[in-house]
Amino acid sequence: AHLQGGAPAGLRVAVVDSTDSTNRQLLDAAPIDDPQALLAEYQTAGRGRRGRVWRSPYGANLYLSLAWSFTQWPPQLTALPLAVGVACARALRSVGLQTLQLKWPNDLWVDHRKLGGILIEHRGEAGGACRVVIGIGLNVAMSNAQADGIDQAWISLDEALGAKASRNAVASALLTALHGVVGAFEYQGFAPLAAEWSALDLTRDQPVQITGTPSYQGIARGVDEIGALRVDVDGERRVVHSGDVSLRLA
Ligand code: BTN
Repeated sequence: AHLQGGAPAGLRVAVVDSTDSTNRQLLDAAPIDDPQALLAEYQTAGRGRRGRVWRSPYGANLYLSLAWSFTQWPPQLTALPLAVGVACARALRSVGLQTLQLKWPNDLWVDHRKLGGILIEHRGEAGGACRVVIGIGLNVAMSNAQADGIDQAWISLDEALGAKASRNAVASALLTALHGVVGAFEYQGFAPLAAEWSALDLTRDQPVQITGTPSYQGIARGVDEIGALRVDVDGERRVVHSGDVSLRLA
């Protein structure tokens, strides 16, 4: 079965068989004001966070990007990954998944395994206009053979649901939820979504290992209004920004 559209009004959606990276393609496309979505059956050079490769086998998963032009640089742009996580949770709930958790800053987890990831890239000058590309990779029906080489615990939506998911239904639910959440984020920021994010927070009050410079362990205490993670280290509160660190449960 091939991917088909099914998207909110005002959103242009293109579906291609293959591309190097849906994020890369939209970032380099001529900018237009209207939001634009691109889905691919597979990617030859899918991008993950922190320069990693996102394995993108054919026909099994969703590789989706949404380009969005903000007329003003959003003051809370650092919290956009968290807002997108909330949109993913809403969309996945609408297709029957009740057990999604969000791992700061932008992983989708079920049952302590990674279901998907979010990669946001942007172009623009602080203070001026800003064009973001929101990329989502979601495991839907990946086989063990297709996942060969992935070095962390993963799960696919079919397994999480215990039933076969319709990629078209999931794609259109994701686009609808994203369109709503990003549109609201542009004007209201992260604050209206903070409680919903917190309810899905995988690491809240858990021991975590922060890897970066420096690396340390602490207890995660949720996020602040700009999406930074609060971590208690030896009784002292620190605030961690997502840029250059990675996080795992200790
Ligand atoms: C992560 O490292 O967890 C983020 C993975 C993001 C992958 C998606 S797939 C669609 C879009 N295009 C890309 O090249 N990457 C993102």
